[in-house]
Amino acid sequence: MENNNIVVAIDGPAGAGKSTVARAVAERIGLPYLDTGALYRAIAWKLDREGIAPEDGERISQALASFRLEFIPGGLMADGTDVTAAIRTPEIDRIVSAYAARPEVRGALIELQRAQAKNGLVADGRDMGTVVFPEAELKIFLTASAEERARRRYKERLDRGEAADYDEILKQVVERDNYDMTREIAPLRPAPGCIILDSSYMDAAQVTDAISSLASRFMEQE
Ligand code: DC
Repeated sequence: MENNNIVVAIDGPAGAGKSTVARAVAERIGLPYLDTGALYRAIAWKLDREGIAPEDGERISQALASFRLEFIPGGLMADGTDVTAAIRTPEIDRIVSAYAARPEVRGALIELQRAQAKNGLVADGRDMGTVVFPEAELKIFLTASAEERARRRYKERLDRGEAADYDEILKQVVERDNYDMTREIAPLRPAPGCIILDSSYMDAAQVTDAISSLASRFMEQE
């Protein structure tokens, strides 16, 4: 019998193309896609709006006790508000890492993430293979040079008609990597047994093909 309910865990630094590729792989192999960065962004959005600082663990726990996150097609609702667009602003980019480093925040999201995997999924984030889905059939660490990742972000902003400064973006990319890789809880690092894929010289279609073909081998197994 085929087991198609596999978990594909994709981790890597900001700007490596994880979400584009993870979404495309999910569609190709017919599994749901879970963008875990969006969950951290929604929590940062909520806590920031309530004036709760990332240092204030007690108030964070209180606020999260009654916080409701719900998936809607192509987006996310937080406490009944559609936050799909609101969590993609430069302001959220700037503040989210500090909230994502908090144990209260990470703890609140673990079960929610695992609950989505009952029928298999493709999930991207920073700790999919190391913490949330250590038993995933396929673990990928998707990376690219900091310069290439900054160039992609720069181009994305220009394509959206926004102002962009390459040197500033590169600085932020390096800072965010350092922060995510050196935090105490669930630091970004390749999971044991993962495949490390450097996409510096690959486009999104090539990376999607590579991961989909690896995933389909697992799906064909007994
Ligand atoms: O992938 P992203 O840029 O949407 O992630 C937003 C932030 O959330 C980023 O600072 C890393 C953090 N994050 C995390 O700590 N763990 C995850 N599984 C996903 C994202």
